Amino acid sequence: MVHSPEVNLRLIPLHLSQDRIIIRQPDDWHLHLRDGDVLKTVVAPTSRVFRRAIVMPNLQPPITSVQSAIDYRQRIMHAVPDGDLFTPLMTAYLTDDLSEEVLREGFARGVFFAAKLYPANSTTNSAAGVTSLENIYTAVETMEEIGMPLLIHGEVADIEIDIFDREAVFIESHLQPLLKRFPSLRVVLEHITTAEAVEYVQNSSAKLAATITPHHLHINRNALFNGGLRSDFFCLPVAKREHHRMALRRAATSGEPCFFLGTDSAPHLREFKESSCGCAGIFNAPNAIESYAQVFEEEEALDRLEDFSSVFGPNFYGLPVNKEIISLVKKPHVVSLRFELKKAETSFEYLAPFHAGETLNWSFDPNFS
Ligand code: NCD
Ligand code: ZN
Repeated sequence: MVHSPEVNLRLIPLHLSQDRIIIRQPDDWHLHLRDGDVLKTVVAPTSRVFRRAIVMPNLQPPITSVQSAIDYRQRIMHAVPDGDLFTPLMTAYLTDDLSEEVLREGFARGVFFAAKLYPANSTTNSAAGVTSLENIYTAVETMEEIGMPLLIHGEVADIEIDIFDREAVFIESHLQPLLKRFPSLRVVLEHITTAEAVEYVQNSSAKLAATITPHHLHINRNALFNGGLRSDFFCLPVAKREHHRMALRRAATSGEPCFFLGTDSAPHLREFKESSCGCAGIFNAPNAIESYAQVFEEEEALDRLEDFSSVFGPNFYGLPVNKEIISLVKKPHVVSLRFELKKAETSFEYLAPFHAGETLNWSFDPNFS
């Protein structure tokens, strides 16, 4: 694994016409693959399009040892369909007492690509997360020293703070002091949702970047309450007001290298979404690249899609861009209502994909090479 900073210049011209887009193969810099039967089902929609993905460690129990990451990586590789080239980049789940030796060893052995900070109880499977940033100062110091990126779920978990303000409060009261204390640390603020986050990342050093999901580019908070309670649109950080969505669209399509693709595809079985206490997470993997393409087209920025999806991420992480290319064709398609599990035992064991029932303008072309 290459960790030296490397700037990738565009070597082949992006091909863009009225009805076809050809881009370097993209990577997904923020992905949940789960485990067991769900894992076996959800790897394929990602690996058919994306070459690499940073895999989140919030399993139950979370990935907190080098061996558990090795084993998980192996289970992922077993689920990759024949013919797909796919590299999962594994992450360590930071807890109050995860030792710096584990991080050092995992990073040195090329097992851990990065470490993930979940403020305790901020989101799905984050109960074992960090209760106070001071508890991980030694771990973070080590990461800064060895060049291991820190990936952050940037929300405070304080229930006294309005849920729509939790990202902005995190940035001001936690992220800012952390970056000041560790100025050489490479940090990604994951799945940003606010104009404040956009502005903060734009005005920070090149050591800070942010990922942007397809769903936060498409929906605002009204989607959650459109004609009833719509748990399919519930994720964390929760979608915000329209002006925040507009700021995210401008950021994603701006051509600024600090913003790149991270789907945060987060599958939950139907029974856990349709519940009095439904899980946070949107499963967007089956149509992620098409969903982004639609946004870039609407913003008249299709010529910037490749940088966002395939160049800025590798540049930030010091990896080469992918040699392979993919293509999308302008062929409207209706997204199916259900994504079936390979081994479903009850009628509730399926996943509902983002954009279910909607028509998307672009389609991934599996036969192009
Ligand atoms: C994610 C999940 O389900 O694991 N949920 C979500 O709403 N995004 C966790 C996370 O990334 O916050
Ligand atoms: Zn996530």
